[in-house]
Amino acid sequence: MKKMHFYVCPVCGNIITSVGQGSFSCCGITLPEQECENCDEDYMINLETVDQEYLVTLNHPMTKRHYISFVAYVTSAGAEIVKLYPEQDISIRFRKKGHGLLYGYCNRHGMFRMVI
Ligand SMILES: [Fe+2]
Repeated sequence: MKKMHFYVCPVCGNIITSVGQGSFSCCGITLPEQECENCDEDYMINLETVDQEYLVTLNHPMTKRHYISFVAYVTSAGAEIVKLYPEQDISIRFRKKGHGLLYGYCNRHGMFRMVI
């Protein structure tokens, strides 16, 4: 499950995930698989551990034109996706399930991730 593929519709923002390669379409468009880059300074993912949870915060704009549209926590046990919307605070709690990958998706700059 750790290798998860993400497809994001540029029209409506729909998120499709798959555990294998596939061909998916939304709003009449065949969706390209999102390439993932490692975290850079523009996307500082802040991770804190609070009790049995991870608290994820991100230093990133949340305007209507430029925002983080989802954050996902993927481990061998499964995947959890939290959808975000403009003007919302980025403060997300995930129950800890061990090592995995934390993904974020910016509507302008695409996908990024960090290993946790
Ligand atoms: Fe961005």
